[in-house]
Amino acid sequence: MSTHFSDLKGKVVIVTGAAGGLGSKCALELARNGVKLGLFDMHPDIEKTAMEIKSERGMENNVLYKKGDVCSLDNDRSFTDSVYRAFGRMDGLLNIAAIYRGLKHTSLFDLTEKEWDNTMAVNVKGSWLMSKAVAPFMMKNKKGKIINISSTTVLSGTPQIMHYITSKAAVVGLTRAMARELGGDNIQVNCVSPGILPTEASLERLPDAYMEKLASESSLKRITPPEGVISTLEFLLSDASDYITGQTIVVDSGRYFL
Ligand SMILES: NC(=O)c1ccc[n+]([C@@H]2O[C@H](COP(=O)([O-])OP(=O)(O)OC[C@H]3O[C@@H](n4cnc5c(N)ncnc54)[C@H](O)[C@@H]3O)[C@@H](O)[C@H]2O)c1
Repeated sequence: MSTHFSDLKGKVVIVTGAAGGLGSKCALELARNGVKLGLFDMHPDIEKTAMEIKSERGMENNVLYKKGDVCSLDNDRSFTDSVYRAFGRMDGLLNIAAIYRGLKHTSLFDLTEKEWDNTMAVNVKGSWLMSKAVAPFMMKNKKGKIINISSTTVLSGTPQIMHYITSKAAVVGLTRAMARELGGDNIQVNCVSPGILPTEASLERLPDAYMEKLASESSLKRITPPEGVISTLEFLLSDASDYITGQTIVVDSGRYFL
């Protein structure tokens, strides 16, 4: 599935969590739609994503990348500054980076303070810090789109991952608060809440039978591919969504309704 939002061509978007999974697929799709990208992830594979994009015709100068931690952005604006300097504008931010792959399944009694703090730091603080680094460029231009990623586990309350669920619920609150604060500068802040996606991170921990059960429980009787989320992200990055802000959109083939 490939989407075409023609007004995305020439826009500049920062994508965090772009070393693999949803983030890398999304980066590639945006690049193919003519978007210039700043890619950020703490995993070394961020270089692989950037090289894959650069290897496509006409895209060699359309991507900057940096290996870094979203939690340390308050001290280091060099990445966002360099993206703005290189491309001359800043249109969008996709806060996709999160503690998800290898997420520890544990009861509330066995969950350690370190696991709790780290999950909250990356999933919540990281999205705030990256937004804080990017928003001033959008404010200058009186236009911008910030999109955060929550999860339908917030709606299901799936046991044994309360640190993750709590962090993804906080992302919904962060989205609403930033929408109010930045709306006067014509910056839309929205959130996408995917159900289980068949990314490497999910497939390595969830058995096929569980995936089939989720599909059968959804209205559309299928698992949502990453492309289903990516097309929603593209819509929220595009001018077509200029009157939508503070919202959380569930993309899960209709298993949960908000
Ligand atoms: N895959 C699913 O089923 C699913 C469902 C709902 C929501 N989500 C959310 O979608 C997003 C992508 O999911 P995915 O399956 O691709 O997961 P993933 O774990 O493969 O991707 C997360 C990325 O974030 C990066 N990251 C982690 N900590 C970081 C840090 N401190 N600084 C910078 N980068 C960091 C990782 O290196 C990784 O590349 C996540 O926000 C996840 O919570 C996923």
